[in-house]
Amino acid sequence: MSTTPAPAASPTRPSRGGARTLAVTSGKGGVGKTFVTANLAAALAARGLRVLVLDADLGLANLDVVLNLHPKITLHDVFTEKATLEQAILPAPGGFHVLLAGSGMVEYSRLTPEVREKLLHIIELVKPRFDWVLLDTGAGISDVVLYAVSLATDVLVVATPEPTSLTDAYATIKVLVTQQDRRHVGLVLNQASRPGEGKLICGQLQQVLQRFVGSLPGQGFKLELLGEVKADLAVRQAVLKRQLLLEHFPGSDAAQSIKALATRLLS
Ligand SMILES: Nc1ncnc2c1ncn2[C@@H]1O[C@H](COP(=O)(O)OP(=O)(O)O)[C@@H](O)[C@H]1O
Ligand SMILES: [Mg+2]
Repeated sequence: MSTTPAPAASPTRPSRGGARTLAVTSGKGGVGKTFVTANLAAALAARGLRVLVLDADLGLANLDVVLNLHPKITLHDVFTEKATLEQAILPAPGGFHVLLAGSGMVEYSRLTPEVREKLLHIIELVKPRFDWVLLDTGAGISDVVLYAVSLATDVLVVATPEPTSLTDAYATIKVLVTQQDRRHVGLVLNQASRPGEGKLICGQLQQVLQRFVGSLPGQGFKLELLGEVKADLAVRQAVLKRQLLLEHFPGSDAAQSIKALATRLLS
């Protein structure tokens, strides 16, 4: 795969109906949201799709670190009208584009009416220019995380097999069901230790969630396993080199799983 970034995002071919928006979130932090989002973006871009990743983990943004980018212009500049959106949308390795939060966004980690309005506005502006907009959100159920997730049509929860991660994933999904009325949530089991673990865990979570959702009016809930990525040393190595796994170790098991995730999302 080429490391040459795609040309800057110019709105030459408006996507019909706007981009598909997908929020990548988790209950617990450090489970692999940014890793999954960035590499999924590369996998989708490799299929000729125009993909934007928005670093929506405003308080603890680190997409720039993972991609080894040193942005001079960030979301902060767009929010404060020091730069235009065009200036802030940067080409990333992997052939997709990013809108980075960078550091200094701590003031946006609280959900004020201003943050609400600005994030919503930005998403509306980018939607017609891309086929996919991925939101790399923060972890947990704080109002700012939930708000970022609410801006996406689809949601993907990343969890690891650790009991703490699963408990938090359960809590997050419960809130998505009750507060956002979501009846479909995608799951990626990351850092799996054996094949089939994702299916097993997804089934268990679905069962407890169904019990909970069954007590609500209206009904039906589906937690869909969209991917299983095993714990793979190649992921750590790619992160240490600040490179995309899909570019650095495209043949690794984890890279294959991310490509399979892209296929699943497109099917
Ligand atoms: N499948 C995996 N195998 C091995 N290590 C992983 C895997 N996924 C993530 N990691 C490690 O976990 C770290 C945290 O991942 P990150 O994507 O930054 O989490 P989050 O965005 O959820 O906070 C990564 O830097 C990487 O070292
Ligand atoms: Mg992250």
